[in-house]
Amino acid sequence: MQIVNIFTTKGGNQANNEDLRLFFIQNLNYNTMQEQWDQRYSSEEFIYGIQANEFFKEQLNNLTEGEILLAGEGEGRNAVYAALQGFGVTAFDYSEQGKLKARKLANKHKVEIDYYVASAEEFTIEKKFDLIAIVYMHLPPSIRALAHKNLVKYLKPGGMIVIEVFSKKQVENTSGGPKSLDLLYSVEELKSDFEGLKIELLEQKEIELSEGPLHQGRANVIRAVFTV
Ligand SMILES: C[S@@+](CC[C@H](N)C(=O)[O-])C[C@H]1O[C@@H](n2cnc3c(N)ncnc32)[C@H](O)[C@@H]1O
Repeated sequence: MQIVNIFTTKGGNQANNEDLRLFFIQNLNYNTMQEQWDQRYSSEEFIYGIQANEFFKEQLNNLTEGEILLAGEGEGRNAVYAALQGFGVTAFDYSEQGKLKARKLANKHKVEIDYYVASAEEFTIEKKFDLIAIVYMHLPPSIRALAHKNLVKYLKPGGMIVIEVFSKKQVENTSGGPKSLDLLYSVEELKSDFEGLKIELLEQKEIELSEGPLHQGRANVIRAVFTV
């Protein structure tokens, strides 16, 4: 199957975009998406930059020590930041190339991160965490709830889940993220996925994104913090 980039940052003609959207709804499959991430991460450039996500940094300030898990961590910017703050850091992503980039960044900063190549709905580990972060890991509806619930198993008592993802409104923007509504999230979906946890924060926001070449400009996001 031909591989087409579904994460366009610039518009293009409406009819073509609609054709592409339908193409992907019909053909989305795991391997294709995984291959796309590997392809994107095979460049020298860190496509989401090397600075950690602002909301993640803010939430990490609430902890003085502990174990952090980063889900869908890609090139490692958040993991390396947390390790530099003295936290124990574990990360996973299904992209092998993401892991290689993260390793490179960690070596540059002389920090240790424990990084697994694994898919979110199958990830298992014999360890529990004080904070689990999901930063722009967008999953298809067929696995989203399952993968989110899977992560909850790895929270320590009192632990928290920190999330920044694009809302469905992001489909109108050109600042990055999936172009398919199915891969964009709603507040209701996250509320349901993390049912049983305490909602500390769950809000939709318009923010100015500046995270590497692929996340630039006005963006519609959901920020959430859930605790056990
Ligand atoms: C937009 S990038 C964000 C990377 C990183 N969290 C950051 O903020 O820089 C989304 C990441 O989610 C990963 N991802 C997508 N679906 C996944 C899945 N089912 N299991 C594991 N990782 C996944 C991709 O490989 C990619 O690295």
